[in-house]
Amino acid sequence: MGLFRRMLDDVSPAYGRRGAVTASPSRQPNYRFDWTRDGALTMRQVVAELRANRDPVQRLQNVARLKAYTLFSWRKVIRSGPAGLGEPKSELSGRPFRGPWGRPQNDGPALRALTHLEFADWLLGHGEESYVKDILYTRERRTGSPITRDLDYVAPRWWEASFDLWEEKKSYHLYTRAVQHKALVLGAKLASRLGDSAGVARYTEAAHQLHKALQDHWDPQRGVLKATLPGNDHGRPTEGRTLDSAVILAAIQTYGEGAPFEITDPRILSTAHALEEAFRREYPVNRGRRGAVAIGRYPGDAYTGYDSRPGGGNPWVLTTAAFAELHYRVAREIAGGLAVTGSNRGFLQSALGDAGQLREGMRLRPGDALLAELRSRLTDKGDDYLNIIRQTEAVERAARGPRWVEALSEQINKKTGRFQGAENLGWSDSSVVSALRARSEIDTPPTRS
Ligand code: NOJ
Ligand code: NOJ
Repeated sequence: MGLFRRMLDDVSPAYGRRGAVTASPSRQPNYRFDWTRDGALTMRQVVAELRANRDPVQRLQNVARLKAYTLFSWRKVIRSGPAGLGEPKSELSGRPFRGPWGRPQNDGPALRALTHLEFADWLLGHGEESYVKDILYTRERRTGSPITRDLDYVAPRWWEASFDLWEEKKSYHLYTRAVQHKALVLGAKLASRLGDSAGVARYTEAAHQLHKALQDHWDPQRGVLKATLPGNDHGRPTEGRTLDSAVILAAIQTYGEGAPFEITDPRILSTAHALEEAFRREYPVNRGRRGAVAIGRYPGDAYTGYDSRPGGGNPWVLTTAAFAELHYRVAREIAGGLAVTGSNRGFLQSALGDAGQLREGMRLRPGDALLAELRSRLTDKGDDYLNIIRQTEAVERAARGPRWVEALSEQINKKTGRFQGAENLGWSDSSVVSALRARSEIDTPPTRS
């Protein structure tokens, strides 16, 4: 898989320490840092590859990459900067970054724990128990261990305000809460396998509280999930934010065990539909597009990839890929049938297009032609999001000539359709890798826990 290889270029880069994951080699803007969030998401794809790819040599290589990541992130955690484990990023040497930044970002430790938990789960099933019991999850008194330290940071702070994944708002975020929830649920499960009953109790309780808090994000008037609730930052009130693709990122990244929202939850689907319609209107590149459109972070975003100014925002590669992934996951999950409601109809009809009419109250059952058609149209629409990213590559190649080395940037200029912002962004790669993985699983029945 070419893209997977390209994603790996960010792991242990020549200009960083082994196990570090660079967000992007770009210096303008300067993304040559190890962002906890971006790095964890990249390495989570390495774990997914480990599960799927049985080639013994590649397995060994992927295990080695993950162990290097564990070591690097441990070094970074031990020496962490002002916000402790909630530090958003570090130097690629592992030294703390001490400049001003939006901190803490409490999704980071949860994502790092998730990657380690999924790695631990694989190791336990493949005769590597000792690495889990001696390194990843121990109750070592002085320092803790990679997994327990992150979870023990997250569990007592689930209610605290922190900066969002876009590093802009200090408040209460659905995304942060959702990934924390999943990490704690998987953490409690591992704790139980390893006989740590105190851990089970602590992680389960915090997950329970988060689950309750997440319900407050539903806005019944607008029929969408609010990404951010109002809060306050050093006494100054922070406004909330309703529509934000972070909600869709939360849904796909927590998919499966420990998900606070099912991927087919009507609240998720109505939010996705509202986001898509907003971006359809906002970005000129989406004019004339039916079905899938290029997706941004949130309506009214100001970040150009270099600076922030009114009207500066663009579609992003990773959010567009996230919509592809959402469609693939929904196609998979509805194989057992579904009921059409007022809240999921808009999303589903938009994928079905002119291939049929869905009405509220309809029940689609396995074997129904309409259900089969809907699943195949969801898959096609998912492909169309990825095609928008491919189209951008074609536009870029045409503009830069054959010497251009193919790579996905952070953003897609909303007028020209060319790449913009940090070049060769790791998270752009990992988001497409993740979407393609989801596509390959459409016809595999979901595992229920
Ligand atoms: C503002 C952007 O919106 C945010 O995502 C970025 O990380 C910071 N500026 C720093 O570049
Ligand atoms: C800015 C993005 O908003 C943030 O989510 C990301 O972690 C950093 N760039 C690094 O890619």
